[in-house]
Amino acid sequence: MVSAFAPGRVELIGNHTDYNEGYVMAFAANMGVTIQGEARSDETVKLRSKEFGEDAFAISSLNKNVHTPWADYTKGVLIELQKAGAPLSGFEAEITSTLPAGSGMSSSAAIEVATALLVQKLFNFQFGDMEDPVTRMTLAAICRNAENEFVGVKCGILDQATSLMGKKDHAVFLDCREQSVEAIPLHPDLCFVICDTGVKHMLLSSKYNARRTECEEAVRVLQMNKIEVKALRDISSQKIQEYSGLFMDRVFRRAMHVTSENERVLAAREALLRNEIETLGRLMCESHESSREAFENSTQYLDMLVEIARSLPACIGARLTGGGFGGATLSMVYRHDAETFMAELTRQYREKSGKEPLAWIVEASDGAA
Ligand code: GLA
Repeated sequence: MVSAFAPGRVELIGNHTDYNEGYVMAFAANMGVTIQGEARSDETVKLRSKEFGEDAFAISSLNKNVHTPWADYTKGVLIELQKAGAPLSGFEAEITSTLPAGSGMSSSAAIEVATALLVQKLFNFQFGDMEDPVTRMTLAAICRNAENEFVGVKCGILDQATSLMGKKDHAVFLDCREQSVEAIPLHPDLCFVICDTGVKHMLLSSKYNARRTECEEAVRVLQMNKIEVKALRDISSQKIQEYSGLFMDRVFRRAMHVTSENERVLAAREALLRNEIETLGRLMCESHESSREAFENSTQYLDMLVEIARSLPACIGARLTGGGFGGATLSMVYRHDAETFMAELTRQYREKSGKEPLAWIVEASDGAA
């Protein structure tokens, strides 16, 4: 029996910047997905999970099953690995997760990454030295492709890369164009609280994909006007402002969000390196405002959680985290305030929204193994 663990990811700052070839800062959570399995002598794959259910299929015939959408993440990875030449065969595996779906920590990427690592171990192949970040990025790209192609969510590389490249007590700064990672120490007094709105959103993937299309539209408009950009990474928010007349209002606001968010991530990196915690907190709050107003991927419940968090004296910064359109917020506090902050945040949210929130103190942890 072999086993693989992949953590969830916590997006510290950098909302929808990844697929715009920009910057993002995140860390791997101390919660994630474990898959234990063994090879079979035939072609059958059997997946079991207390949380999700069961599925069985042939490794040579991987199709979606409407009853087991969670298995799509595994199937997508098996397809992409085979495309990349991995010698796969049948196996049995049990999936356990300490990452509730909808927690905003990307349980989907954790399933993808854990699947990739499990079958590497089962069928004895590797795309290089797993100590080498380049190998880990290659695997992250394979898992991202699985989500883009088979699952159909046109996500960037943030979730998979963070799950693979996380480092204990560190944030990872990702340059999504260069595919490079830098680990930056997080001050031990800092503590992060994830709070799930308890609201599941319909049409999540179509709304997500629509945002990506709008960002691509912004790039097309710039290119049509002979402004040399390959992605929104290549232009400042000030320039977007200068060119505002070129865009439809909606596309303009999306471009403003992404370009200003890239600038905030760079400033947040500096702040973290200099231990300027208040600055980091302010940038997190500005990030939320930009998501809310310009990118429009917040919801009334995410806004409510951020507003309550910010009204509490312990809060240094708070924002929505992850794709948005539901899901969770991230708050930054000092460690000695964390328990009381979390209790007060959930109490007030329950009272105001009538929803049952779930909250966790998350610690920056090592990447998948
Ligand atoms: C989701 C996607 C990521 C990223 C974030 C938003 O988590 O999977 O690729 O785009 O949303 O920053």
